[in-house]
This record gives sequence, C-alpha cells and structure tokens, in this order.
Amino acid sequence: MPDTLDILAPETLATVGYVREPIDPTLDLFDEIERLKEEKNAVLLAHYYQEPDIQDIADYIGDSLGLAREAARTDADIIVFAGVHFMAETAKILNPAKKVILPDLNAGCSLADSCPPDEFAAFRAQHPDHIVISYINCTAAIKAQTDIICTSSNAEHLVRQIPDDQPIIFAPDRNLGRWLIKETGRDMVLWDGSCIVHEVFSEQEIVRLKARHPDAPVLAHPECEENVLRHADHIGSTSSIRRFATENDADTFIVATESGILHQMQKDNPGKTFIPAPPSNGCACNDCPHMKLNTLEKLYLCLKHEAPEIEMDEAIRLRALQPIERMLAMSEGVS
Ligand code: 13P
Ligand code: SF4
Repeated sequence: MPDTLDILAPETLATVGYVREPIDPTLDLFDEIERLKEEKNAVLLAHYYQEPDIQDIADYIGDSLGLAREAARTDADIIVFAGVHFMAETAKILNPAKKVILPDLNAGCSLADSCPPDEFAAFRAQHPDHIVISYINCTAAIKAQTDIICTSSNAEHLVRQIPDDQPIIFAPDRNLGRWLIKETGRDMVLWDGSCIVHEVFSEQEIVRLKARHPDAPVLAHPECEENVLRHADHIGSTSSIRRFATENDADTFIVATESGILHQMQKDNPGKTFIPAPPSNGCACNDCPHMKLNTLEKLYLCLKHEAPEIEMDEAIRLRALQPIERMLAMSEGVS
C-alpha cells in the first residue's frame, strides 16, 4: 500500500483507517520504529499472522492468550498492536488509561463480524439458563454479553472447569465449538460463525500431500472445519503449533493455519520443512486479508502520529473486562 498522500484530516482518517503521509524512501523504517518506541515508551505487540518484518521488530510475538497477558502486564505508555481490531480492543479493555494504537483500523476479523451484537442478544435470550463462553475473536460488544472469554490455547481447560449441570452457549466460532464438544464430551449451544481463512483449506489437497509426505505430521488450528481436523496429528493454537513443530522429531510438517506462523516456525527450525496446507481454489486465501492490512509503513506512521487510536464506550469496556479477567484467572499456568 503506497503511502504517498498528505496526512488526512482526522475525520477523513477515521474513514480511511490509517495515517497516510509520504515516507522518505531512504529512511530505515526498522531504526525509526525502534527510535520511536524508545522515545514514546511504546511497546509493540504482534500476532503470529503479521508479515515477517513486523514480527521481527515486535517486542512480543504471540497467540491471542499471550498477547492478552502481555497487554495486561505492560507498563508502557503506548501499546502498538500489530494484529486485528478485536485484539487491540482487548488491550484497551485491560488498559483504559493507556493509548492503544493499531496501524490500520480496518484490520477486522470475519469471525468477529459473524456475530452482530443485537442478534447475539436475541440468541442469548432464547437460552436464559446458559452461561456464555466466547472466543476472544469477537467485538467488545459481544464480550460485554459474555461470562467467560477463552482463546484456542485455554478453551478446553476453561470448559472443563464449568460444572456438568451448567448449560453453555459457545460463540462465535462453530468449528472451535464443535472441536471442544468432541474433546470434552460437553454439549454446548453453538453460534454459527466462522473464520474465512481457516475454512478455506482443501481436505482433498491435504490427503494428497499426506500421500506424498507420509511422515509429515499435519498441524491444524481448531478454527478449521472438521473434515480438515480429522486428518490432523496435532490440533492447537498458533503457539502450540509452533511448539509442536520444535519438539517433534519429524523433518517435514503440513501446516493448516494462516501462513504468517511459518516465519517463526522456520526461524526456530532452520533445518525443517513446513508446507502450508493448500486452500481449495488455489488462491492465497490462507493469508488473512485483515491481518495483512498492517504494513511496516503503516506501523511507522501509526507510531509517529500515535494514531489511529482505539476508543471505547466506558460502560461496554467495564462489562467486557469481567469475562477477560475471569479468563486470565482461570487459565493461570496454561501455555
Ligand atoms: P491464536 O493465535 O490464539 O491461536 O488465534 C488464531 C487466530 O485466528 C487469531 O485471529
Ligand atoms: Fe479473524 Fe480468521 Fe483473520 Fe484470525 S485469521 S483475524 S479469525 S479472519
């Protein structure tokens, strides 16, 4: 995305979603970002699905649980969140007094979008005796209607702590929900949402790859559909997929999650081969289009101008904080 226009007025910026300004092509953006972080006491938190340059300059790279924990403990004045909107929102919910900025406010999430707050309120009203466990990939307005937040790292651990006679609504990811039902034996009422990236993997292509690489374990994220998960040797969050690849003796792995994770897996294991599981139609749709809206250029301008910033209604923030705090307390020690 070329940043060649003059900086826009704040009201236009809110529409565009990121700061636009000419950048001197001779600038070393890595040095500039480091300098700005130091000068402003800013911390850069990045998700594994960010582009490699952003991962390389981050102060912390992790999965959603790690990022939430890091956001809860930082003493920086500014949190620069290289991830998607619901992640930056979570950091703001935990840090109302800090400035939380996101390189591109348009970096949303199809899964979060699949659960509109009004429709979810009506769904909850149909199940008044159920508690609500929501995957962290949801908006603050959904978190505000939730009892316990979870991530893919701690979801099973949290569901197992709910008394057997307590009915549960699980939202918004139906694939993660179905996988949890299978793993825990708990029946749950599922919201019918999904992630566009994790639904794109082709079962047929994975079976073909397995035939060509019979010793290669298949590593899959639980946001994938059941027809992909049934071929997986390991199912887990991005951090658990990364860990498995290092701890397992195989030299080749088939990876069914967003392609950004391959950067750290390859850095951890230079001698191993990681094959991204192919999508069904040959497109590059195992790149998350939302995550990839953030670029090094937007990150630099975001830090320089301290914008765009996450803002939130205080009543919603307070209601959304409780289920996040419950998650952090109930998943101590989970990695
Ligand atoms: P985790 O990194 O927590 O596994 O989540 C994956 C994801 O889809 C984030 O949007
Ligand atoms: Fe949302 Fe899927 Fe992108 Fe994660 S990979 S941010 S769940 S659209």
